[in-house]
Order: sequence, then C-alpha cells, then structure tokens
Amino acid sequence: MARIAVFNQKGGVGKTTTTLNLAGLLARREADPLVIDLDPQAHLTGVCGVTVPRAEGSLYGLYASGASLSSLQCMTANGWRLIPSHLELSKVDTQYGKGPSVLYRLGQSLDREAAERPVLMDACPMLGVLSLSSVFAADGVLIPISADYLAMKGALQMERTLKALEQVLKRRVPRRYLITRYDARRRMSVDIERQLRERYGDEVCATRIAENVSLAESPANHRDVFDHAPSSRGARDYADLLEELVSAGFMQAHERGQRPQLRNVPPGARTALSSGRETVVQRQVAAGLQLVHPKRAGR
Ligand SMILES: Nc1ncnc2c1ncn2[C@@H]1O[C@H](COP(=O)(O)OP(=O)(O)OP(=O)(O)O)[C@@H](O)[C@H]1O
Ligand SMILES: [Mg+2]
Repeated sequence: MARIAVFNQKGGVGKTTTTLNLAGLLARREADPLVIDLDPQAHLTGVCGVTVPRAEGSLYGLYASGASLSSLQCMTANGWRLIPSHLELSKVDTQYGKGPSVLYRLGQSLDREAAERPVLMDACPMLGVLSLSSVFAADGVLIPISADYLAMKGALQMERTLKALEQVLKRRVPRRYLITRYDARRRMSVDIERQLRERYGDEVCATRIAENVSLAESPANHRDVFDHAPSSRGARDYADLLEELVSAGFMQAHERGQRPQLRNVPPGARTALSSGRETVVQRQVAAGLQLVHPKRAGR
C-alpha cells in the first residue's frame, strides 16, 4: 500500500515522530516519499526546518485556491518531499465546509499527482476535515498508541471512528496499531500491550517503539533519529517497524512498478506479520458530517 495516514485522535502519541522516522527510512531506501503535514500545529514542518510565510504556500493552498500538490511541495534537508502545514489550516473546516469536494480533495490530488509514490500523512489530533481527508486518501491507517493510562481509550475511539467511516468508504480501512513509548519496566506498558493484543490481535504491530531519548531529541536538531543517533534503540525500532510493515504488505517502500531499493537499511528486522484480517462491516454513519461514497463524489 502506497499511502499511509498516521492518525490517532489522541494527542502526543507519537504520530509526528513516527512519520518523521518512517519518511527518513523511505528516503534512505530511495523510495522518494511524499510527506504531508496535515496538522495546523505544523510540528513536522518545523522539525524539517521549513517555514511558510504565506498560508497559500502550505497545504492550505489546496483548499483555498485549488493549488496543485507539486506547486506546494518542497524538498527537505532530510531528503524527502514535504507539503508543509500552516496555522491557517485550522480554518479549513469553517471556511470550506465538510462536503465531499473538500473531504476528497486531497485523495483526488494524490491520485492525479502522486499515484506511484509512497505517501505518509501526519494527521492532527482531532477528528475534523483534515484528519478525515487523510483517512479517505489513505490505503491504510497507522495508529500510534502511547503506552500511557489513556491508551485504550484512544484506541477504542479510533476503532469507533474507522467503523463509522466504513459505510462511506464501502471498505474496512486496513490498519495497524503501533505501541509507542514502551517501557518494559513499567507495569502499565505491559498491561496496555496485553489489552491491545487481546482486542486487536494481528493488527497490533509486533514491533514496539520503546521510550527512547534519541527519538525525543532528534527533532530539536531538525533530524530524524537515523541521522541523530543511528545506533540508538529508537533507530532500531523504527527500522524494525518499516521492515515489518513492508513484509506484511501494509506499506510500500518503493515507487509502484519499481524494484525495492535495499540499500542503507539498518539491520535487525523482525519476522513479519500476516496481513490484516477483513471483518464484517458494521454500518454506522459519522454523525454530523456530509459523507458520501467516493464514486458519488466523482472521485
Ligand atoms: N518513543 C519515544 N520516546 C521518547 N519520546 C518520544 C517517543 N515518541 C515520541 N516522543 C516524544 O513525545 C512527544 C509527542 O510526540 P509526537 O509529537 O510525535 O506526538 P504526536 O502524536 O504527533 O502529537 P500531536 O498529537 O500533538 O500531533 C514529543 O516530544 C516526542 O519527541
Ligand atoms: Mg504531531
């Protein structure tokens, strides 16, 4: 799958950290990834050292003036393409509504302009037009779950949200839950992992991202963890994660139609999981949103 939304409505769970480091790895594999910062907080944009003086030069331009994605993207020092964010993005819901033309705009633009390219979308920690757009545009959703005391609440919330979207999308969105900030010495981490695996089975990544200071430090230096501390636990964990997701067919680490590049991949990949299970669709409609099936929206 080429397009992954990194999304959890809960804040501070490792969405941006995960996007940054998976993008860094994809770039090292010469997969030429496109990364989209959908969070008006613009944390990822800031980590990349990118500043956008005018909102129209960010993803906001797609909604405000129908700008093409290629006109909005910039090349980061980390070696991947970024469509930056801007605070004005927080106004998209109120300025342009929640209709299908807005909700599907990102996916349609990606279909036109980046159909072959691996895409990572860093969503914001709330359920609105921007985060829904990322799910609608995605082939799969990666859900970081920080191993803290509200972890299960966040996971259940995401389960409900994705279930509500099934009727609209006419498919069950493939997903993987990723345990982040794991500390084996903490009882809470162990309990949360057990609860997640009991409830979501193979949809929980075998790889856990440990609590690791290098992961917390690297953004301050505008770097991913592979530049900042290549032999750290954090670098190993994210390398394992990419290998797992690629082996399971959940993520694509190369352009469609191209052979995978295996250069510069840190060693230590774990055994891959089988791909996700499809379950019976439960019909629910996301309350209050004007959602329609992509075909009807002219996708
Ligand atoms: N495995 C980890 N070990 C240590 N610190 C981490 C780890 N993962 C993330 N962090 C730190 O936790 C904080 C939140 O991480 P991050 O910004 O990636 O979360 P987020 O889900 O994107 O947050 P938001 O919802 O605000 O967008 C950051 O300071 C980050 O450096
Ligand atoms: Mg973030």
